[in-house]
Amino acid sequence: MSGLTARHTGPGPAAGAEDGTAARVVDAAKVYGTGDAAVRALDGVTVGFPAGRFTAIMGPSGSGKSTLMHCAAGLDSLSSGSAWIGGTELGTLGDRQLTLLRRERIGFVFQAFNLVPTLTVAENVTLPLDLAGRRPDAEWIDALIDVVGLRDRLRHRPSELSGGQQQRVAVARALAGRPEVVFADEPTGNLDSRSGGEVLALLGRAVHDMGRTVVMVTHDPVAAAHADEVVFLADGRLVDMMTAPTAGRVLDRMKAFDTKAFDGRPAGGGGTSS
Ligand SMILES: Nc1ncnc2c1ncn2[C@@H]1O[C@H](COP(=O)(O)OP(=O)(O)OP(=O)(O)O)[C@@H](O)[C@H]1O
Ligand SMILES: [Mg+2]
Repeated sequence: MSGLTARHTGPGPAAGAEDGTAARVVDAAKVYGTGDAAVRALDGVTVGFPAGRFTAIMGPSGSGKSTLMHCAAGLDSLSSGSAWIGGTELGTLGDRQLTLLRRERIGFVFQAFNLVPTLTVAENVTLPLDLAGRRPDAEWIDALIDVVGLRDRLRHRPSELSGGQQQRVAVARALAGRPEVVFADEPTGNLDSRSGGEVLALLGRAVHDMGRTVVMVTHDPVAAAHADEVVFLADGRLVDMMTAPTAGRVLDRMKAFDTKAFDGRPAGGGGTSS
């Protein structure tokens, strides 16, 4: 599976491990629950996310995408295997070290936003910096606010925003501290195509102008086409990857999953007509 790590030769502050990955998991397994109720959400995944590149993760619902992101970002721990940010193995860190690493080096956009309801938009955006005791770069935050179109909502609270607006606050928050690696779980899932396009352009700029690394889960082939490469998960396993994706090619690959879902057999195994 080493072929699943694309090489990175470009510049960037997000220098990763010696193999050029900003984040990676090796032989990652994650089992939720025990006994009959056990669910193997990740089943031996090895994948590297190249530094300074934009990678999309796709796969059917329940295939382990969020679990992979949470474990790669140090928000959850693996049952076995290892997770790395650059040259640091997360499993060797204590709670406090892990918290610091997440604050300083990682931005996360959750599938469910996770905004703090009692804080305003402006306060939510700078929260990670405030927690870390870092002074926000006012110019950068200002530019972010404009890109995500939240200028006229800065004093609102999350409950006063639409789902798409909350999603944009979450994206701005993840980028506020210019982290090395941004993990985004369906950051455009609740946006119309125009707002979604703006968020994707913002993530793309973090990668291609700022040398950051972005890892994004998406169900949308058009969103995935913004990435430099796409990795596909199914049943907790890594099943494919694609470089220089186009929406059309991604859609074709996803149809193969759908075929499997319908006839219960592996895609390409035949048996479906029409
Ligand atoms: N906390 C948990 N406890 C038990 N099972 C869980 C837990 N979190 C996830 N799972 C299970 O692990 C599997 C993978 O879940 P995960 O959330 O990673 O999927 P996903 O690919 O992100 O799906 P979606 O596209 O619907 O968001 C699923 O079968 C899910 O039910
Ligand atoms: Mg998910």
